[in-house]
Amino acid sequence: MWQRLLPRKNRFLGIDVGAHEVKAAEVRIIEGAPEVVALRRVPSPPGAWTEQVDEDALVEALKQVAGPHLKEAITCIGGEQVVARTVRLPRMSEKEMEAAARFEVEKFVPTPVDQLIVRYVPLERPVSEEALSTPRAAAARAREAQGPPGGQEEGQSVLLLAVPAATVFRYHSIFSRAGLVVTAVDHHAFALWRLFGRATAGTLALADVGAETSHLVVVRDEEIKFVRLLPIGGSALTRRLMDAYGVELAEAEEMKREAAVGVDGDQGSPGAIGAGDFLIAGLSEIAREIRRSLEFCASQDGLTVERLVLSGGSSKQRGLAEFLQADLGVTVEVGVPQLEFGPGVVFDPAFAVAVGLALREVAS
Ligand SMILES: Nc1ncnc2c1ncn2[C@@H]1O[C@H](COP(=O)(O)OP(=O)(O)OP(=O)(O)O)[C@@H](O)[C@H]1O
Ligand SMILES: [Mg+2]
Repeated sequence: MWQRLLPRKNRFLGIDVGAHEVKAAEVRIIEGAPEVVALRRVPSPPGAWTEQVDEDALVEALKQVAGPHLKEAITCIGGEQVVARTVRLPRMSEKEMEAAARFEVEKFVPTPVDQLIVRYVPLERPVSEEALSTPRAAAARAREAQGPPGGQEEGQSVLLLAVPAATVFRYHSIFSRAGLVVTAVDHHAFALWRLFGRATAGTLALADVGAETSHLVVVRDEEIKFVRLLPIGGSALTRRLMDAYGVELAEAEEMKREAAVGVDGDQGSPGAIGAGDFLIAGLSEIAREIRRSLEFCASQDGLTVERLVLSGGSSKQRGLAEFLQADLGVTVEVGVPQLEFGPGVVFDPAFAVAVGLALREVAS
């Protein structure tokens, strides 16, 4: 209630600490509509999201990226620290849900549950009368008319999230040393969904391909149905080139960006031809991870993906979209957010998560 008396916030900062870069997105609400007014990036200190991370260097990186205006940030936990699972649970009270969530998490997380922060997020939104004109409502009605296979599903779908409490405390303190207050710790899946999933009909997959990890989210008629962290990203490609050519990281990065990988083989410049071979092996690895998850979705829940939307720095890898399209047999595109960008601000797919975080408190 008091919130209504306070001035409404109209500027939001999303910070995505990645293994490769720390990225910040600033969103302003202008006449009720969000506009991305700034995107800032700095290289991450080596070992981000591992025990070995240089905390002082990360504090400095956060200071640089935060910008002068905002002291409050929305962020997410990177690396392989968060375990996320979609499950169906019976409908129950909030208190019972909390207990059920902890009980479920114990089944698939080896860490003792008292060392974890456990959250659950309901994924289904009721189809209300006034929302009947949305694509989701229309698609849901069409499915109902056909009769869903296996009948109406019982209970509710929730996303369970579990993360070591020590990690959350550690990053809160790193942010606070950089002069920032973390107002929310969000999850990559929601950030991606806000950008590419929430106003869509049909079944699509979102894949944010980063440096060390990738995030896959399957959305049907605006609702998240499946979330998976894939332990692979663009660094695997760089490492292949480093090993194959005995070159340093910077040179391998350069080779990776220059090499053109064609679906029918190499089509790059003569110098890039060999690199293309190594890249294809790496791209196959990424494709295999995505394919496994999509096959799992199709077999478990009848979720057959029609379209794959890419983001993350590695979605800029030349030839990746075409490679995945040929390999997976679905339409693949690099996501373009339907958002306003301020003067001079150009979207880069590496910022998808940061922008999605900044949109957390912005109504759709
Ligand atoms: N033009 C490009 N071509 C190919 N790869 C690129 C290009 N630009 C960036 N990358 C790769 O994108 C990756 C970084 O992407 P991103 O910023 O999304 O990762 P991150 O969020 O820092 O890492 P993670 O998500 O794994 O924690 C690096 O592996 C980098 O080499
Ligand atoms: Mg990332």
